[in-house]
Amino acid sequence: MNGIKIRGTGRALPEHVLTNGDLTRMVDTSEAWIASRTGILERHIRTGETHASLCRDAARSALERAGVAPEEIGVCVVATVTPDTRVPSAACTLQKALGLSYDTLCFDLNAACTGFLYALHTTECLLAAAPKKFGLVVGCDLCSRLVDWTDRNTCILFGDGAGAAVVEWRAEWPSAGAVLGCAGNDELLRCPAPPEEGYLTMEGQKVFKFALAAVPWCIDRVLERHGITAGDVDFFVFHQANARIIDLAAKKYRIPPEKYYKNIQRCGNTSAASIPIVLSELADADRLPRGSKTLLVGFGGGLTWGGALVEMA
Ligand code: ACO
Repeated sequence: MNGIKIRGTGRALPEHVLTNGDLTRMVDTSEAWIASRTGILERHIRTGETHASLCRDAARSALERAGVAPEEIGVCVVATVTPDTRVPSAACTLQKALGLSYDTLCFDLNAACTGFLYALHTTECLLAAAPKKFGLVVGCDLCSRLVDWTDRNTCILFGDGAGAAVVEWRAEWPSAGAVLGCAGNDELLRCPAPPEEGYLTMEGQKVFKFALAAVPWCIDRVLERHGITAGDVDFFVFHQANARIIDLAAKKYRIPPEKYYKNIQRCGNTSAASIPIVLSELADADRLPRGSKTLLVGFGGGLTWGGALVEMA
């Protein structure tokens, strides 16, 4: 038995807020349509901020709350599909900004909206072999970079932001027991890389159906792996892609309102950042006390999906 617990979390959101009302002046849509179909009322969109500045601010705040010094970090993984530069990676840029040691493993990881879960699992595995037992796991996406602002099917859904978690690995702690999956598919959700031109495209309804199947699959596998029931979980944190997906999952597992949370109304879908931003908001509100067990569920492009059970240290 060996695994990670979360020591501290942080987040950073761009200052500028784009409301549904603003979007009605950009595309043929209505505030009521967006609110009722997605649960989103507004989202943060970068103006002066960069991917690097959001990663840095979220990570600094997580380190501070964890009481961990930059030189204690053994592994730093940034989950993202929208870095400022491909080389250096966002994680290497973050290493420089925070003053992480030269022997810290720093790299980016692309699993779209499931990125934070993939990064958490990767960090847990790497920390088992690393001399330093603290890891920095960041999810950051500037979705505004991927979005065609004339496409009403997608531009209403996304926001920008970063979230970070400092984790600690100990031999006597149980593994987060992540369950991760992937089914290569470039029809439902696609965003080309240069030199090919184009923005993110999505078959919304089909992705919605995929999510409705992926979420219970993840929850069931995590519960099974840990030998617990939904009632034993202290908190559920879902990727914030659509309020309806979260509410349906809550209904299916009879999760009471005090055990799950939505910030999609304020943040939209921030891709890899959504889960750590939620964790950070909950921690600041003292809703994730020490010892509490949180079941994380993510899904998104790839297609990818995943779940894990993490404890607060
Ligand atoms: N305003 C008004 N009408 C719209 C808008 C809009 N912004 N967007 C689409 N419509 C129209 C459509 O054109 C369609 O019209 P039609 O019937 O005349 O063709 C109608 O509304 C219904 O469209 P649907 O796509 O069926 O709407 P739906 O209820 O499925 O909601 C949505 C669409 C919100 C995108 C939903 O399907 C969804 O949330 N999907 C999941 C998205 C997701 O989870 N993504 C996660 C991964 S993202 C990542 O990994 C990067």
